[in-house]
Amino acid sequence: MHARFSFSFWGAVAGLWMAALAGPAWSQDMAGGNETARRALHVCAVCHGEGGRSKSPDTPSLAGQPALYTQRQLKDFRSQQRSEADNAAYMWGVSALLDDDTIQALANHYAEQTPHAGFTKAKPAVLRAGKDIFENGLPAKGVRACAACHGNQAEGAEGFPRLAGQHAAYIERQLKVFGTRLRPHGVLMKAETANITPKQMKAVAAYLQSM
Ligand code: HEC
Ligand code: HEC
Repeated sequence: MHARFSFSFWGAVAGLWMAALAGPAWSQDMAGGNETARRALHVCAVCHGEGGRSKSPDTPSLAGQPALYTQRQLKDFRSQQRSEADNAAYMWGVSALLDDDTIQALANHYAEQTPHAGFTKAKPAVLRAGKDIFENGLPAKGVRACAACHGNQAEGAEGFPRLAGQHAAYIERQLKVFGTRLRPHGVLMKAETANITPKQMKAVAAYLQSM
């Protein structure tokens, strides 16, 4: 468990959430006609950033993520199937209050937002190694090209998440989670991650963040 957010921070979020569900609609122009989604977006933004462009390396950006993917993740949090400690801490409580229509509206909203632009401080050699794994995989290790499923620009589609511009720290952590039982719907990723070394994970994560 990472102590990224203090108890007082979490208390503030919980308070916001209650206020969001009980209070008046704050803005009328978001999330289609779904009132709960419109209110919820203010709470999501506390952690995931304005428009779903996260500023925190440990919190994923949601902007530009295919709607089907986001929808599935929110349902996996709600049913507590996606169960890494961070999910349990941050997403179980939030998602428990969302019905299917609200989840759909939130997912549609984030799919329409402008994605986080690529950014990096990584060394060119690391980025080159990451690009090679992304485009070609590691044939000798049975690791397929990431681009084959996530798209040539890592833009994602349907159930395949967008990875371009995503925070490297978050990507790296997920690559490790796929080797565990904590993310059962990541089963397609199990084979891909089984034979990647931690160093290679770091490189591909750095490259994806830079895209
Ligand atoms: C208190 C902070 C916090 C709040 C509030 C919050 N989230 Fe999250 N969310 C997180 C963290 C942290 C993660 C990543 C957990 C991990 O490392 O697996 C996450 C993960 C997610 C994911 C998975 C992303 C992916 O790429 O797989 C989705 C989707 C998501 N949140 C949507 C939402 C929505 C929609 C809301 C508002 C209804 C919301 N979150 C509110 C902290 C928060
Ligand atoms: C056979 C198709 C396939 C290949 C190849 C593949 N992925 Fe994935 N990946 C998926 C699917 C499907 C998911 C969504 C799993 C879920 O719904 O929980 C995913 C999820 C992810 C996630 C989690 C994203 C998030 O927002 O939480 C990361 C990170 C990721 N893949 C990185 C990679 C990397 C790096 C490679 C190449 C080494 C790769 N993937 C190759 C299918 C694939």
